Amino acid sequence: MELAAKKKAESTKDKRKKLVDATMRRHGHASHALIETLHSVQEVYGYLDDDALHYVAQELRVPLSKVYGVATFYHFFTLKPQGEHTCVICTGTACYIKGVPAILHAIKENYNVDAGDTSDDGKLSVLTARCIGSCGLAPAVVLDGEVTGKLEPDTLIERIGSMIKNDA
Ligand code: FES
Repeated sequence: MELAAKKKAESTKDKRKKLVDATMRRHGHASHALIETLHSVQEVYGYLDDDALHYVAQELRVPLSKVYGVATFYHFFTLKPQGEHTCVICTGTACYIKGVPAILHAIKENYNVDAGDTSDDGKLSVLTARCIGSCGLAPAVVLDGEVTGKLEPDTLIERIGSMIKNDA
């Protein structure tokens, strides 16, 4: 991987990790913060992956079995990305006001996917999240784990298009 690309990947990883860390901090790293933290992980990563679950267990000092128990008990958590690509749209107040309905509409028109669904070809899953802590980027979107925002619906559709095309 080129140095610039590597740096970018690392900084995205850092940003997402920071959002999860902020949730844990807000709850004083107490074990009762587990559900909130898992929400936060899912919001920024699109799903709960193994590494993230291990990290949360370690940071909150909760047995891994309990973390998996909670992650699999609640239907709103998902352990696997359903589509090859994920687009998480923040529907928090700031983002909603700045154009989330138009974004959801554009995605539906172009990919025939509603929030919470995956496209028929399995390429794209669309998820929604509450405030992901990047209100300055409203409307904030997380594309394959990369936090982005301030995009017009057309630009977002282009970004999603090239994200999907890149693995063709
Ligand atoms: S409301 Fe969307 S990031 Fe805060």
